[in-house]
Amino acid sequence: MKIIAFAASTSRQSINRKLLKYISQRISNRAEFELIDLNEYELPLFSEDLEREIGKPANAQHFLNKVNQADYLIISFAEHNGSYTAAYKNLFDWASRIQPKVYQDKKVILFSASPGPGGAKNVLSQAKASMPHFGAEIISSYSVAEFYKVFDVEQGQPNSDELARGIEHTLSELVERSDQII
Ligand SMILES: Cc1cc2nc3c(=O)[nH]c(=O)nc-3n(C[C@H](O)[C@H](O)[C@H](O)COP(=O)(O)O)c2cc1C
Repeated sequence: MKIIAFAASTSRQSINRKLLKYISQRISNRAEFELIDLNEYELPLFSEDLEREIGKPANAQHFLNKVNQADYLIISFAEHNGSYTAAYKNLFDWASRIQPKVYQDKKVILFSASPGPGGAKNVLSQAKASMPHFGAEIISSYSVAEFYKVFDVEQGQPNSDELARGIEHTLSELVERSDQII
């Protein structure tokens, strides 16, 4: 079973990526786990004019190829001004012009994290509402608020039982499925 994960952020210090690194430790002994970095799929700002000039950029196709390899996708969303980061939305827009069903009927687990009390819940609800229209079968989701209080960045793991349990619960279907395959 192959899992592709990414933080919908291009920050080098991304807390969403830190969360996924912890998740990778939890499940990489059960399944093949690849954490991709959106910085490796850099693209110019989408416009229909530019699209007419340059066509379908290779990085958008490379991103779609990664999605295609996955049995499960795990995406952790950063929230910028109540919505997606510009980098994620831009990559999504380019990819959708090659393949409108960007998520290709994959099973998807969603997280979101913020340092503040909101837990990036706005972007998480937008993703939950919109992704099924683009071929995502959303299995479960979890929002992490006050990240630096509940996650030990030095140790790379939760320091709150509630967060540890929340993550386990959110991953439970995937874990059960991987046990069946093993
Ligand atoms: C331009 C900008 C807008 C932001 N807007 C929000 C917001 O609407 N809600 C929120 O919870 N955090 C917001 N934040 C703080 C982010 O949650 C914080 O930077 C977080 O670390 C982003 O996730 P990342 O580290 O994975 O990139 C914003 C940060 C930036 C730079």
